[in-house]
Amino acid sequence: MRAAIVAFSLICMTGTAIAEGDPEYGQYLSSECVTCHQSSAAGTIPPIAGMNADGFISMMKLYRSKQLDNPTMQTVAMRLSDEDIAALAAYFSALKAPD
Ligand code: HEC
Repeated sequence: MRAAIVAFSLICMTGTAIAEGDPEYGQYLSSECVTCHQSSAAGTIPPIAGMNADGFISMMKLYRSKQLDNPTMQTVAMRLSDEDIAALAAYFSALKAPD
């Protein structure tokens, strides 16, 4: 009985981690992003480190649904699931914003 309760709470915790985004998985996915999005503002590409997680998620979904009009980011976002976007948001929002 106790084991069942522990197993159940583990499932709940894992569920929460996915809904809120897993920063370790986000870090794994971020290698593609940082080739363009350097930690400091370089040229015309905005830095995304330290971005507010909710704002980040909204923007990525707008690129994915092509409501935000940038072909590069549309292509990037197209390949991401909601879980991928949540993980990336968790990772980038925890980074220090560039000065
Ligand atoms: C090939 C280069 C490139 C790659 C790779 C790339 N981006 Fe972008 N990203 C851009 C450019 C350029 C913009 C600015 C678009 C604009 O001005 O509309 C942008 C904008 C954004 C924005 C909006 C930031 C803001 O404040 O306006 C977010 C969020 C973002 N990218 C996230 C990501 C994530 C997450 C990844 C990886 C999964 C990624 N990008 C990969 C080039 C790239």
